[in-house]
Amino acid sequence: MSDSYADDLLADHHIVVTGGGTGLGRAMAMRCAELGARVTINGRRTEPLETTVADIREAGGEAEGISCNVREADDVEAFFDEAEERQGPVTRLVNNAAANFLASAEDISPNGFDAIIKTNLYGSFYCTQQCGKRWLEREEDGVVLSIATTYAETGSAFVLPSAMSKAGIVAMTRSLAAEWGSAGIRLNAIAPGPFPTEGAWERLVPSEDIEQQMRQRIPVRRFGEPEELADLAVFMLSDLASYMNGELVTFDGGEKLAAGGQFNDFTRLPREQIKQMMAQMRGD
Ligand code: HXC
Repeated sequence: MSDSYADDLLADHHIVVTGGGTGLGRAMAMRCAELGARVTINGRRTEPLETTVADIREAGGEAEGISCNVREADDVEAFFDEAEERQGPVTRLVNNAAANFLASAEDISPNGFDAIIKTNLYGSFYCTQQCGKRWLEREEDGVVLSIATTYAETGSAFVLPSAMSKAGIVAMTRSLAAEWGSAGIRLNAIAPGPFPTEGAWERLVPSEDIEQQMRQRIPVRRFGEPEELADLAVFMLSDLASYMNGELVTFDGGEKLAAGGQFNDFTRLPREQIKQMMAQMRGD
C-alpha cells in the first residue's frame, strides 16, 4: 500500500461509501478512514457493516454503519438523514454498491433485470441526488465518485444489465459534471478491470481455468488489489484532483486496450518464438 499521502489528507471530510461492508467498498472505506475522514458505510446486510466499522475503529478511525437498500428512494433519503445526524454533513460520496451475475440475455427474468438495474443505476442516482440537493442548498462543494467498469464503454456478453446500468452511471457522471460543476460539485468515475473480491468472484468466475484465462488477458498478468484501487479513489476524492471533473479513469492493468489490439495475442507466445517468426517472414 502506498504511504505517500499525508495522514490528514481527508481530515474534515465525511465520506459515504455505499456497499462499504465488503469488497472494494470496504477497502475504500478503510483507506479513507486511515487518512482522517469520518466514514459512513451502508449495505443491506448488517453483519459486514458491523465488522468493517469495528475494524476501522480498532485502527483508530471514525466510522458508522447504517443498513440501507439503495434500490429504495425513501430508504436512501432516510439513510442520509441518519448519516448526517451521526457524523455531520456528508462531503463526499462513493457510489460503489453493485449487483451482478452471469446470465444469457434471453434468460434474464424481469426481477433479475430489476435487481441489477435498480441497485446499480437507480441506487447511484438516488444517492447522488440526495448529496447534490444537500450541497446545492447549503452552497457547499462536493465530490461524487462512482465505480463503473471497463465494459461500460465497450459492452460485454453475459452481463447485459450490469453493462447497461454502468453505462448509465457514466452518462450520469458526465451529465452532472456539466450541470453541477459551476456549484463546485465534481463527479468522476473509475472503470476497474477484474479485482478478485468474494462478491464478484463467486458470481462471475465459474472455474479456476477461467480465472487463469482472465489473468492471461491482462498485459501486466495479474489482477488488481483492492488497496490499489482505494488509493486511486482517495486521490479522486481529495482536493489533489480538484480540476478533474466528468472523467472516467480506467484501472485495469491494460486489459481493455489489449482486448482490441489485433496482434496483442502474440505476446502470449515466448518472445524468442515471435522474433523467429518475424525473422522468417522477413526472409532472414
Ligand atoms: C439468473 C438470477 C441470478 C443468477 C439472482 N437472479 N441471481 N438470475 N442468474 N445468477 C434473479 C433471481 O432469480 C430473481 O428473479 C432476481 O434475480 C432477484 O433475486 P433475489 O434472490 O431476490 O436476490 P436479490 O437480493 O434481489 O439480488 C441478488 C443479486 C445479488 C443482486 C443478484 O447478486 C447481489 O445482491 N449482489 C450484490 C453484491 C455483489 O457481489 N456485487 C458485486 C458485483 S461485481 P426471479 O425472477 O427468480 O424472481 C461487479 C464487477 C463487474 O459488478 C466486473 C467484474 C470483472
